[in-house]
Amino acid sequence: MSELDRQAVTSIVSKLYDTFPFPPDPLLDEAPPGYNWRWSWQGAYGFCTGGLAPIKTPRILDAGCGSGVSTEYLAHLNPDADIVAIDISAGTLEVAKERCRRSSPPTNNRAIAFQQLSLYDLDQIDGQFDMINSVGVLHHLPDPIKGIQAIASKLAPSGIFHIFVYAKIGRWEINLMQQALSLLQKQEIDQNQKIDFRQGVKLGREVFAALPSTNRIVQREKTRWSMENTRDECFADMYLHPREVDYEIESLFELIAASGLEFIGFSNPQVWQLERLLGSNPELLTQAQSLSTIDQYRLIELLDTDIAHYEFFLAHPPLAKLDQTDAKILSSIPQHHPCINGWESDCLFDPDYGICRLSELEFKFMQQCLSSQTVAEILKNIPNGNLEIVRSLLTKRMILLEQKP
Ligand SMILES: C[S@@+](CC[C@H](N)C(=O)[O-])C[C@H]1O[C@@H](n2cnc3c(N)ncnc32)[C@H](O)[C@@H]1O
Repeated sequence: MSELDRQAVTSIVSKLYDTFPFPPDPLLDEAPPGYNWRWSWQGAYGFCTGGLAPIKTPRILDAGCGSGVSTEYLAHLNPDADIVAIDISAGTLEVAKERCRRSSPPTNNRAIAFQQLSLYDLDQIDGQFDMINSVGVLHHLPDPIKGIQAIASKLAPSGIFHIFVYAKIGRWEINLMQQALSLLQKQEIDQNQKIDFRQGVKLGREVFAALPSTNRIVQREKTRWSMENTRDECFADMYLHPREVDYEIESLFELIAASGLEFIGFSNPQVWQLERLLGSNPELLTQAQSLSTIDQYRLIELLDTDIAHYEFFLAHPPLAKLDQTDAKILSSIPQHHPCINGWESDCLFDPDYGICRLSELEFKFMQQCLSSQTVAEILKNIPNGNLEIVRSLLTKRMILLEQKP
């Protein structure tokens, strides 16, 4: 793609989001509901490394922040962070600013720095970031490889980078409708010499209404997407996007390789378990598990055609992980995971809002995690206390451990 074409794509993408800022979630005069651990510095760092981050005042970048839903959560979940949020669309940024102003995050007097800037021009911002979030952006760039490289250059040495990009197989029907609408719209563009996204939504809704109800694209829209697509912003983002690159496992890992960063793991790991699909046949499961990890991922996306996106973490290699030896765990300082809900009860929500029941010993251990004692010191105070309690709480994602180097 020539530089001129790249600029034209960026400009038309920006126009789409000026018309339809995304996501269209309502603006609130209070904190957003609940949490998403992927936007909590300690929650995300804990997922990637198993431990607590030594950096307590992280610098966070929301790259392609859209209407600020993620920025707002980042600000509420990380009150000690310095946050920079960029987007190419001025109209969208205005919504993001207003959203974050209205919900008054406890940012300890640090203002969120919003900036109208392309990912390509990230070098205009000084310094690096401990945490970078880029959700639903790279696949809309004229050159995603250039985009991921620009982001990677801004990631601090022990930083983590969370990405979300589209998966081709689960978006097959969407892609067909995008092409169909683009053909129909082409006639209108030829007459008017400009794209009218509002007109495009009207046209798209007419096409859906005209198609037989048994039509596969209509069926897919009804069963999977129609709830969110009642909003024109979502409908336009899905069916009228002027630029979308969808990935399959092979091209996804080519994109990752081009970033120079290491793949840490999918942030929805439950989706990438073969047991979920082949667990009913142990022999078949064993056979599938003997494939390379990448081939296992490929098998999963071939067998589960509902996978419509990839979400994952990257970091500079090697990212230091929690030392799980007994001695190191005993000398660690435990803290409650920042994204659990329902404490102080022995039945509470884990970071993914799954129900978690604690044993009596686990509960007693959690009660003493608020005192900055080491694991060894806490276990001494619990009759029959042992390291298995701590390992179980780590697996349940109820606690995180801080280890001194
Ligand atoms: C689908 S929205 C995602 C918004 C947000 N990250 C979220 O998931 O809630 C994509 C956003 O990326 C922005 N964008 C597209 N190209 C960009 C670029 N080159 N640099 C910065 N932002 C860009 C768009 O303006 C839009 O707001």
